[in-house]
Amino acid sequence: MIKIEDVISEISSILTQEELEKIRLKYIGRKGILTDELSNISKLSIEEKKNTGKKINEIKQRIIEEIEKRKNEIKRASISEHAENSIDITLSGKPLEIGKIHPLMQTMDEVKNIFLGFGFSIATGPDMEKDYYNFTALNIPKDHPSRDIQDTFYIKPMELDRNSQEEIVLRTHTSPVQIHVMEKYKPPIRIIAPGRVYRHESVDASHSYIFHQIEGLAVDENITFADLKAVLEIFVKKMFGGEVLSRFRPSYFPFTEPSAEVDMQCLICKGIGCSVCKQTGWVELLGCGMVNPKVFEFVKYDTEKYTGYAFGMGIERIAMLKYGINDMRLFYENDLEFLKQF
Ligand code: DAH
Repeated sequence: MIKIEDVISEISSILTQEELEKIRLKYIGRKGILTDELSNISKLSIEEKKNTGKKINEIKQRIIEEIEKRKNEIKRASISEHAENSIDITLSGKPLEIGKIHPLMQTMDEVKNIFLGFGFSIATGPDMEKDYYNFTALNIPKDHPSRDIQDTFYIKPMELDRNSQEEIVLRTHTSPVQIHVMEKYKPPIRIIAPGRVYRHESVDASHSYIFHQIEGLAVDENITFADLKAVLEIFVKKMFGGEVLSRFRPSYFPFTEPSAEVDMQCLICKGIGCSVCKQTGWVELLGCGMVNPKVFEFVKYDTEKYTGYAFGMGIERIAMLKYGINDMRLFYENDLEFLKQF
């Protein structure tokens, strides 16, 4: 009778599935050795038949198991061999592209951080405002051009509250946050208010119907125009570089008196004059001024005791000047090739 140890060692030396199949046929196929042996036991006595039959069946079972085991081993070996040949594990991986903060938000963060460094805190207000906050309390009279239907998105009060008589607008600037803050807190106040603003404009290289502003407000005893000037001059230097000059130019805003606009030297031509600065050497940066006492009256601040300054700037504009971008629409198109540069 065959020895199982011999068959096992024979099986373990096999390297291919084809050879393994040959072994299977050799021992347990229809004409295999074990099959043959089994058919021969009919010549034996009943007792011997029983013993030998049992042994042969045990050996057969064992061979089936060993063949199955070897089959899996060969299969696994061929997979890993194949993998080794087709994968070059020394190649460097494909770099993962990591997303970035949008350039507008980067600019916003930079502006915020500069003012946080000056000791300002961050305040927020709603995008939908009552007419009172967006206009009236900021001393923007009923007939002021910025109330013109063409500039403002009006929301039908009916859609929000059927009983409301008050007109609701999408805020046209971040200045209404000034009113919310002053209604809630007593001086001293030093806040900036970043956020989205909305205007009924058609889109072009320098206009969008949604854009971003940062508002600033400081109220305390003895605040003067000199404080405003110092803060904004240092802001310009921190934002655009220590050598950049800025200038204050008289202007008009209903909520500040006196009012000014801050220009900075054109970064493109360094003040010599080019198409970006319309040959003036200067570009407009922001609006500012001393808080109009009429605004203080709306929030019931003592106008004898307190003075304050306010300013507001467009983030798109700052980002365009900072990075030399001539079309605002680039910020909104989500072209990755553009965004990757920041
Ligand atoms: N709210 C003004 C605008 O949207 C910007 C502005 C100007 C804000 C002067 C101020 C300010 O706080 O004092 O054009």
